[in-house]
Amino acid sequence: LQSAMAEDANRRQFKARIESEQKTQRVEFSFQEPLRPGEWRLHLSFHGKLNDQLRGFYRSTYKDVLGTQQTLAATQFEATDARRAFPCWDEPDFKAVFATTLVIDPHLTAISNTSVISESVESGKKVVRFADTIKMSTYLVAFVVGRMEATEPVWIGKTPLRLWTVPGKQPLTPFGQDIAAASLKFFEDYYGMPYPGDKLDLLAIPDFASGAMENLGAITFRETALLVDRQTGTHAELERVADVVAHENAHMWFGDLVTMSWWNGLWLNEAFATFMEMLAVDAGKPEWKRWESFSVARAAAFSVDGLVSTRPIEYPVHAPKDADAMFDILTYEKGASVLRMLEQHIGPTVFRDGVRQYLRTHAYGNADTQDLWTALGTAARQPVPELMNGWIFQPGFPLVTAELHGQELRLSQQRFTYLVQEPALEELWQIPIQIRLAVGNRTEHRQLLLTGQETKVGLPDGVTSVFVNEGGHGFYRVRHRAPLLEQLLDQGLDRLAAIERFILVSDTWATTVAGLTTLPEYLRLTGHFKSERDKNVWAVLLDSFSFLNRIISSEDRKDLETLVCHCVKPTIEELGWDTRQGESDLVRQLRGDLLGALGKLGNDAATQQEAAERYRRYRQDPASIDSNVVPALVAILAHTGDEARYDEFLELYRTGSTPQEERRYLFSLASFRHKELLARTLTRTINGEIRTQDAPFIVGAMLLSVYSRDLTWDFVKANWDHMDRLFPKQGLRRMCGGIVGLATPELEQDVRDFFASRKIDLGGKTLEQYLEQLRVSVSFREREGRTIQAALVSAIQHET
Ligand code: BES
Ligand code: ZN
Repeated sequence: LQSAMAEDANRRQFKARIESEQKTQRVEFSFQEPLRPGEWRLHLSFHGKLNDQLRGFYRSTYKDVLGTQQTLAATQFEATDARRAFPCWDEPDFKAVFATTLVIDPHLTAISNTSVISESVESGKKVVRFADTIKMSTYLVAFVVGRMEATEPVWIGKTPLRLWTVPGKQPLTPFGQDIAAASLKFFEDYYGMPYPGDKLDLLAIPDFASGAMENLGAITFRETALLVDRQTGTHAELERVADVVAHENAHMWFGDLVTMSWWNGLWLNEAFATFMEMLAVDAGKPEWKRWESFSVARAAAFSVDGLVSTRPIEYPVHAPKDADAMFDILTYEKGASVLRMLEQHIGPTVFRDGVRQYLRTHAYGNADTQDLWTALGTAARQPVPELMNGWIFQPGFPLVTAELHGQELRLSQQRFTYLVQEPALEELWQIPIQIRLAVGNRTEHRQLLLTGQETKVGLPDGVTSVFVNEGGHGFYRVRHRAPLLEQLLDQGLDRLAAIERFILVSDTWATTVAGLTTLPEYLRLTGHFKSERDKNVWAVLLDSFSFLNRIISSEDRKDLETLVCHCVKPTIEELGWDTRQGESDLVRQLRGDLLGALGKLGNDAATQQEAAERYRRYRQDPASIDSNVVPALVAILAHTGDEARYDEFLELYRTGSTPQEERRYLFSLASFRHKELLARTLTRTINGEIRTQDAPFIVGAMLLSVYSRDLTWDFVKANWDHMDRLFPKQGLRRMCGGIVGLATPELEQDVRDFFASRKIDLGGKTLEQYLEQLRVSVSFREREGRTIQAALVSAIQHET
């Protein structure tokens, strides 16, 4: 900051003395005499340099079509970095109107939140003036300057919608633009309110710390989250683009028009955007069954929320670090899950009416959680706070135990934690519970609200099975105690919906990790999924095997590989390697997932050979292989690959023709098994070869893999200070998430010592949670270690 001057209504000017404090990024002005009350203008002049930290006003670089390095400038302000670009009252409830003018080199393009109102050349520079924004928070201001190319606009009502890329990437825009247009239209209908800006630009930025950022009218993305080729993208990659685009569009209302008052209420932004993202993608692509795959996200939230060190969704924030730490699975996925539970409980139309009310009441302003309850409560004509406060202000979630007592079903709740707590934790929740009863060939349904510790439900004569959490929308786990689980299995899993099979496996696995179910019991359950065709159910099965892979000793690995092969092969034999006519996107994605598991986790030689053969064909004729299978081929070949393969994939990473292809080959460099090759990859994460937006994710993945974790942990310890300076903050935090892979007693101790001796703080409760997750893994190993081998062998025998 160079100078500050206050000007009164009569244009009299008073110069300020400036005191600035680096640590808190705060400036204070003092004047010779006190300023009289009234209207004043504050003039500030300041300067700065584009930084390389991917926050504030920063520099991004890329190679153009001729291979020359080019630079562009972009902003990322959320949560507390607008102050790095210009002095401001940088808190979400100081909303203001922004009028931006950018003075740039004439050959460049400038984009900001609103339309350009004038462009002129003054003393050799291009002067671009932008229209006034709506009243909004500082963290939503954005500007991008560089050689950028735009699509033609599509018009949604009065809003022109364009996608921007660096030169040469326009062919990758159609999918994202279609999704953006469809979701914007969906939200205008759902919210019953037009888009609040005067235009909407979506920009793909080559270096970008998170996935995307909801700057009003100028949404910024990392390239993989916006640009994709419809033909060669996998289902998962296309879904990712659809998710992120819909999510950011949803924010134009939730977050931008109405903003949380303070960062403790971040869930009002992010949980809603995540919930709305599901609704919009589900409306646009019903065949993707987005609410079913959402159960994978819900399960991820459970895995953090089952820790003693979890936190309530709403949680105090004082320092910028703690604001950053709020962008986690609890805010996003738990938040969206409890919204879904409420939506299903009060009904989708009533819920939507409440949302409309909330937006109308608080437009251009700020709100907190009680404001949302008021709006939803009015629409629902029932008290919402009583029901919802527990889910937002209490940590954790309930385990509902279902037990049969004669003609009665007894349901009880207690907080679920992986590690035993003494004395027991006593939180209670108001839990909307849906139950399905099979009575011979008929089904009956029960709905209740469990508010106390326990309740009883009378059952009709002839009940043959009971499923608690019908439809799978509840944010609780269920333990169907004997004989309920056995009854469900006896009747055949095909009587359950896919989402219900998912939660049956997911819940049983969680109770296994918590020590309430034995490993042999869990493995017996997994044996029932021979004819499973749902990719989400498979994802949870495979996740549990990956968990086992991380905690077993290396002598047991062969048995685990055999078990994985036994489990997966029947399905793969039926699906085959080639796409069949009329197959859904989901089945094609499943084929890719299962082949990858068979070749890597199962380490199956036949699969590896076939993968090599098919990959050769793919390189000759890319269209000869289903795009959903290609990532599996690449991953398997890295897993089995030598130096020549490494060099080949490194080159393909450098020349990738889509962001997804680039990413695929980049991550393959983390999956080789030779120590020397892995060491090369690690070096590349800090020597500038791999973008800092990606490098911490590579290191994180390498901490999670049993083949690279020792080496990588040593590397992290040796290079911590360098990484701390180099990587974007949220990247570093995510990288540290990889420590949960260091699941041996010796490594665990070393990890604890390292973080303690370096006094590392990742903000909020992040580090505490990672360490507890690691403890959960290691204590599972300590508890089950001696019996794992026997359990695996017996499960294999059962299978054959
Ligand atoms: N507001 C966030 C971006 C953000 C994340 C800012 C972390 C500051 C810190 C944005 O709306 C967002 O949530 N992005 C997600 C993608 C989304 C589809 C879940 C992301 O970046 O991962
Ligand atoms: Zn968001």
